[in-house]
Amino acid sequence: MAEHLTVVDHPLVQHKLTLMRDKGTSTAVFRQLLREISQLLAYEITRALPMTTKTIETPMTEMDAPVLAGKKLALVSILRAGNGLLDGVLELIPSARVGFVGLYRDEETLQPVQYYFKVPEGLDERLVIAVDPMLATGNSSVAAIDLLKKSGAKNIRFLCLLAAPEGVARMKDAHPDVPIVTAALDEKLNEIGYIVPGLGDAGDRMFGTK
Ligand code: URA
Repeated sequence: MAEHLTVVDHPLVQHKLTLMRDKGTSTAVFRQLLREISQLLAYEITRALPMTTKTIETPMTEMDAPVLAGKKLALVSILRAGNGLLDGVLELIPSARVGFVGLYRDEETLQPVQYYFKVPEGLDERLVIAVDPMLATGNSSVAAIDLLKKSGAKNIRFLCLLAAPEGVARMKDAHPDVPIVTAALDEKLNEIGYIVPGLGDAGDRMFGTK
């Protein structure tokens, strides 16, 4: 992937995103849309995966047919909202390995603190796709990718639903080697770090916690 930021402007993605942004959309519908949109975004983020061939026999003849090359890729969900994106991506790539990163914000230092970290072995040989619906300030995304790199990951991509310019800039500064795929680049962050126009709190909307 050459671009640092890819905005997927496919009509289906944009239509589903509008339904998700609408505050009148129920939790059940929001979750279903998230599942659908995450598959379309996953399609884009995996577009240039390395390929090889294997010899198979069709009912007609033998052929060298294309298959994905290398070790199974790793999906890493940044808790908790990442799990909403993870489900859909896993449906598309069922053999992917899965990891989780849990971070909370220390209210005094405002810095992300790790409370959970479990990732597949051999990260150095896998494509690692970190998933988190909202790239807002970028603080937790940058910290999660720091942790993945410390665990050996060398080929990382970041998948989100919405990005704020501030978060994209922060990621580009800290991790210029990590391409970002998103459904939209929104206008700005508000004073409490929410994306505007955004869709509100992604975790609350997908899990119905508010
Ligand atoms: N996290 C969210 O869930 N929503 C935002 O707008 C920003 C961060």
